[in-house]
Amino acid sequence: MVEPSFPPHLRYILGGDCGSLESDRLTCAYNYVERLALQQFYNVRKNMTQVVDKSGDRVRAMFAQIAPKYDRLNHLLSLNIDKRWRSKTLRMLHLKPAQPVLDVCTGTGDLALAISKELGPETEVIGSDFCSEMLDIARVKQERVVPPGANLRFIEADTQSLPFEDNKFQCVTVAFGLRNVSDTMLGLREMVRVTKPGGQVAVLEFSKPTAPGLKQLYNTYFLQVLPRVGQALASNDKSAYEYLPQSVQQFPCGEALASLMRDAGLENVRLTPMTLGVVTLYLGTKS
Ligand SMILES: C[S@@+](CC[C@H](N)C(=O)[O-])C[C@H]1O[C@@H](n2cnc3c(N)ncnc32)[C@H](O)[C@@H]1O
Repeated sequence: MVEPSFPPHLRYILGGDCGSLESDRLTCAYNYVERLALQQFYNVRKNMTQVVDKSGDRVRAMFAQIAPKYDRLNHLLSLNIDKRWRSKTLRMLHLKPAQPVLDVCTGTGDLALAISKELGPETEVIGSDFCSEMLDIARVKQERVVPPGANLRFIEADTQSLPFEDNKFQCVTVAFGLRNVSDTMLGLREMVRVTKPGGQVAVLEFSKPTAPGLKQLYNTYFLQVLPRVGQALASNDKSAYEYLPQSVQQFPCGEALASLMRDAGLENVRLTPMTLGVVTLYLGTKS
């Protein structure tokens, strides 16, 4: 007799519907698990095809909510590789001292802090973001990470309308931020506008690995494991870690993003895949 308080799937497997033979019950259990996996797969697919809401208010509120945990979760969920992605980016920029640099969508400031540390106090470095809660954390880190005389400041600004004159910076960078900007092209055009002719625009962003085995592993981790672990650790914010894979899936990568960068006024756009294409650095020069 099967307990009526058992959940339906256990009643189904243990109960009369499955027959009394051990082998029938095993087949039944197997069918049940298979159905569950298929259901899960279609739920994930359904989620991926919904257009992700990137309105400024929603994105800002989401980052404000996860700001205190952002760094810890980022390092944990990327298995600490995110630090290497940013330092490789810095090495590839070949920045010159004493010429200003801007890092937009700077968040908690890791890339801006690294640039300022590398170039020293003679170089003005600005980190901008429209989420004050993320910037508060960047400012706390600044006191810890860079020497007191550093020429680094964090300002609140929307990447789609930057409060700087044309042609100011030797380089404008964005790490894992462009994907979140509501209007990608507007964001890119603003980044190009404030870059000096001959200066560089650098976009570091998630991409989609194409090698067969890796593609599956990546999809399982990114679409199934990461949102659950993120949700469990962020405890109060489920949407941020559902948003991450959705926004990556729907954002152009590879040639498609390089082509947008060219349309925004960049030339000689070079792509450098990192970690087997999980992330790509796109570097273009303002004509
Ligand atoms: C995933 S975080 C990346 C932070 C940091 N660059 C990093 O490498 O960890 C994305 C950041 O983009 C910011 N952001 C999104 N849309 C923005 C916009 N339109 N203007 C300014 N900041 C924006 C968010 O507030 C958030 O801090």
